[in-house]
Amino acid sequence: MHLLGPDDLDAASIGAYLDLARHYAEEGTRSDALSGRIVATAFFEPSTRTRLSFEAAAHRLGADVIGFADAATTSGAKGETLEDTGRILGGFVDLLVMRHPEEGSAARVAAVAGIPVVNAGDGGGYHPTQTLVDLYTIRQRFGSLAGRSVAVVGDLRYGRTVHTLLPALREVGATAVSVPCPGLGLPPDLSSLAPETDLDGALASCDVVYATRVQRERFTDAAAHADAETAVRIDRARLEAAGFDGIVLHPLPRRGELAQDVDSHPAANYFEQARNGVAVRMAVLSRLLEESP
Ligand code: NCD
Repeated sequence: MHLLGPDDLDAASIGAYLDLARHYAEEGTRSDALSGRIVATAFFEPSTRTRLSFEAAAHRLGADVIGFADAATTSGAKGETLEDTGRILGGFVDLLVMRHPEEGSAARVAAVAGIPVVNAGDGGGYHPTQTLVDLYTIRQRFGSLAGRSVAVVGDLRYGRTVHTLLPALREVGATAVSVPCPGLGLPPDLSSLAPETDLDGALASCDVVYATRVQRERFTDAAAHADAETAVRIDRARLEAAGFDGIVLHPLPRRGELAQDVDSHPAANYFEQARNGVAVRMAVLSRLLEESP
């Protein structure tokens, strides 16, 4: 079993991951469920939260971890294909967590590695473990997912977290609207899942505002979106003016789109969201390696 994208996140799987994550959050600060297993983290792109929360999760379950966070140190720099790197790692470890700038890269590796593969971000594609973290945080705050309303805000064209979250919200019976930066709306295959609105409309009607960073590293023409962050900026004054009483999430890192003065507002839930990453990734590792607590 792999965790690559929305196809691996039907309602039953989401429920299983979130229940297991809650178990780890409540009871399991450490266990030896994965003792003797080896997890590899292969990161061809920058990461702080995803890689380190996966590594913390593996250590908390008693697994060993190997990996790299700088692709320049690997044989990819000598021209090795991603598939060959995947085959080799498949012979060394029991599960591979990978992040890579090309869409579809994790699926390509999953087809040849012979071990479970977790997509920790494939370019502007998908990021399914972030979606589980997002859903976990929404459920933690509201008690359920069905019927919740979520506004996804920011760079919706390249944002892989949103591309994975929207189909998952549909699976669990939640609704969505979108507030894109100008020129950075949802890809056509996702646009029907979240009709466009404006930020004040979203603040007036949604339980969750999900802010995202402008993915400048994916732009071919950076100048075309020079002011993107400021177009849909969330700050404390705006939340107060709207009387917003839901929660603000953000996968982080943030830039100008989410002001620091939101941090002390009761709606701010993004640091809690990041903390939830460890319990959720403990659930992902143990479920994919079929080792329940
Ligand atoms: C996100 C990502 O890598 O897609 N970060 C994360 O994993 N929390 C969001 C982003 O980089 O903007």
